[in-house]
Amino acid sequence: MKVLVIGSGGREHAICHFLARSRRLRELFILPGNAGTAALGTNIPGDPCDVGFALSIARREKIDLTVVGPEEPLAAGIVDAFKQAGLPIFGPTAQAARLESDKVFAKQLMRQQAVPTAEARVFDDYELARRYIATRDEALVVKAAGLARGKGAIVCAEPADAILAAEKLLVKRALGEAGARIIVEERLNGREASVLALVHGHSALLLEPAQDYKRLRDNDEGPNTGGMGSFCPTPAVDEDLLRQIETQILVPTLDGLAREGIEYCGVLYIGLMLTAGGPKVLEFNCRFGDPETQAILPRLRCDLLDLLEAATVGGLEEVEFSWDPRYALCVVMASAGYPESYRTGVPIRGLPEDPGRDDLFIFHAGTRLVDGQTVTGGGRVLGVTALGPTLAEARSRTYAAVEQIRFEGAYYRRDLGLVEQLTGPQAA
Ligand code: AMP
Ligand code: GLY
Repeated sequence: MKVLVIGSGGREHAICHFLARSRRLRELFILPGNAGTAALGTNIPGDPCDVGFALSIARREKIDLTVVGPEEPLAAGIVDAFKQAGLPIFGPTAQAARLESDKVFAKQLMRQQAVPTAEARVFDDYELARRYIATRDEALVVKAAGLARGKGAIVCAEPADAILAAEKLLVKRALGEAGARIIVEERLNGREASVLALVHGHSALLLEPAQDYKRLRDNDEGPNTGGMGSFCPTPAVDEDLLRQIETQILVPTLDGLAREGIEYCGVLYIGLMLTAGGPKVLEFNCRFGDPETQAILPRLRCDLLDLLEAATVGGLEEVEFSWDPRYALCVVMASAGYPESYRTGVPIRGLPEDPGRDDLFIFHAGTRLVDGQTVTGGGRVLGVTALGPTLAEARSRTYAAVEQIRFEGAYYRRDLGLVEQLTGPQAA
């Protein structure tokens, strides 16, 4: 099969890495890809959100399956356009992707289907939002309704901060149109977990649960980022809890979509807070999580191409797969200044050629090749993942590999995968 992967991050490199192992893969193309994907296939420069361009590549190269990594092309209708053209593509339609691209839609659907989530109110008028927030005396979260690349949720300790956040989004339009409508919701407490499912209509296959580290600094301090690391599996979600998440969250969400005439295909990512009152949805994403994917896929023993194809055309029940019992820990190496402004074009040294091991993976996120030299090309630069029989062992292997890699200003968290975190006070 000839496969086209859309996107350029660590998630896409991980997807390409495991697709490249498929016995059925003949040729791989990536739009636009990075220095890591260039070693696995042909990078095609271009805008991943340019649906017409993606279509023209798929036609020109006679692509058998297109796999969409990020949310923006999904929200822009890339799946709809490919389907109309009769080309197989992995991912949800723009309507289905509203679970991520329109948080108001997602909230309403959850409310209708009694899916547990934070209590919320929706505003597009600042004065109304301000008056409402002033009546609350608890911690609140203010969220942009639209896509905001991980910057859309502002967690506020005090109502006064929530008023400022509402002003920032609704009046100052700090996130543009994405923040023209906001959600003000109760702040939930507990431990977070990410549960991803491969979905084709009503059939779904739950992947083993992962945990993402969203905050920039050690001890979960500093601003939210796209994700500074992840591990899988997380003991915070055991088999019983996973079944509960399936029956109380996943199934009713898919039913709710079906009721609106929307069939979901692709990955449904459920971001959860494990509260004392049970698991509650923080957000849905309509794609693989980044960097969760870099800790999930190395443990998945199956032909990834079979799996993605089944989610596209049906037959998820028949795909044979199992899980590597080891833990995987991914540490993200970022550019100095991320998630705000950062420099690119910085040479990266000490990258192993190809680790060629089944327990160490260097996934490229923001990298590019300049005259044969790999240089930084984004905020999150690399995702280093190692497997180990225990989380502690995975941790020491991952950090040993991280320490070999050098680029000016490289920043990474040093506290990922500490075993205390599994039993710490955050645990629900
Ligand atoms: P979201 O983009 O909705 O996933 O939010 C990003 C991050 O903000 C989450 O991973 C949480 O850490 C935090 N967050 C979002 N909503 C809430 C909430 N209702 N209560 C507590 N934290 C939240
Ligand atoms: N790691 C969170 C996300 O992919 O949005």
